[in-house]
Amino acid sequence: MNLADDSRGFESVREWLSSRCAISYPDHKIPLLRQRLSRVTRSFDLPDLDALAHGVITAPREDIQLAVMHAASTNHTYFFREPDVLKKFSDTILPERVSNGTVRIWSAACSTGDEAYSIAILAAEKMGQAVLGKLQILGTDISAPVVERAEHGIFPRNQFAHTDPAILHRYFTPTGIDQYAVNASIRKTCTFRRMNLKATPYPFTHRFDVVFCRNILYYFNRADQTSTLEALYDATLPGGWLITSVTEVISDLGTRWQQVDTGVYRRPE
Ligand SMILES: C[S@@+](CC[C@H](N)C(=O)[O-])C[C@H]1O[C@@H](n2cnc3c(N)ncnc32)[C@H](O)[C@@H]1O
Repeated sequence: MNLADDSRGFESVREWLSSRCAISYPDHKIPLLRQRLSRVTRSFDLPDLDALAHGVITAPREDIQLAVMHAASTNHTYFFREPDVLKKFSDTILPERVSNGTVRIWSAACSTGDEAYSIAILAAEKMGQAVLGKLQILGTDISAPVVERAEHGIFPRNQFAHTDPAILHRYFTPTGIDQYAVNASIRKTCTFRRMNLKATPYPFTHRFDVVFCRNILYYFNRADQTSTLEALYDATLPGGWLITSVTEVISDLGTRWQQVDTGVYRRPE
């Protein structure tokens, strides 16, 4: 197949990913997206990207759409990523929120759940196991396979490269070859759902005390970054917090979030 032959199908799927999922592939990443989509065409035995576009857009099939969303997303994550901002959360934000009662935390774009489980472990380390009874941690992601892996709570050793061995020992049980299962006390604090951050407003009855939205915004274009941050704001309690990656500066996007520190923002009371 000449690349130009299926360029219409390719561009349709690329546009669909941006408009439906906020996953934006700039021109210099076209070869990467082509490579990722070709894996989907192969797995569904489709002849080319025009046929893929047909299955995604013209005559949509949910299994093909889910596969495209998964293939197009970058799921890299690991436990205790960016510890400085996590420490700000566990040292100051968490004790403040726990003093008011149950704390609802959302790991938006959680991938395999490392972030959600790291938050629960940090809370237990900082405030003792009893605090887990006061935490409700929700992890969401657009990719169904990563949500399933988060629910299983079993992780390969390489996701603990930045984890203190004593923590690994305290909160995980070795299982299989080089795999670790998160202990029940931590696991039952976290629930996971598939959810698309592009689908605003978000469908929550109760708002969150703290939202983590890390290492996802740089896959979105500027308009989607702004609308996602605004929707997260609406899903957060007055006085609640947003934690971003320290590499994703949001202050020039003109949202309602007020910056408190690097990677730490607050919705005013
Ligand atoms: C690089 S991972 C970040 C994981 C974690 N937050 C961290 O900082 O380690 C980005 C995740 O965002 C998810 N994602 C991409 N677009 C999304 C969308 N529109 N809605 C929800 N999740 C999305 C991907 O599936 C991927 O798992």
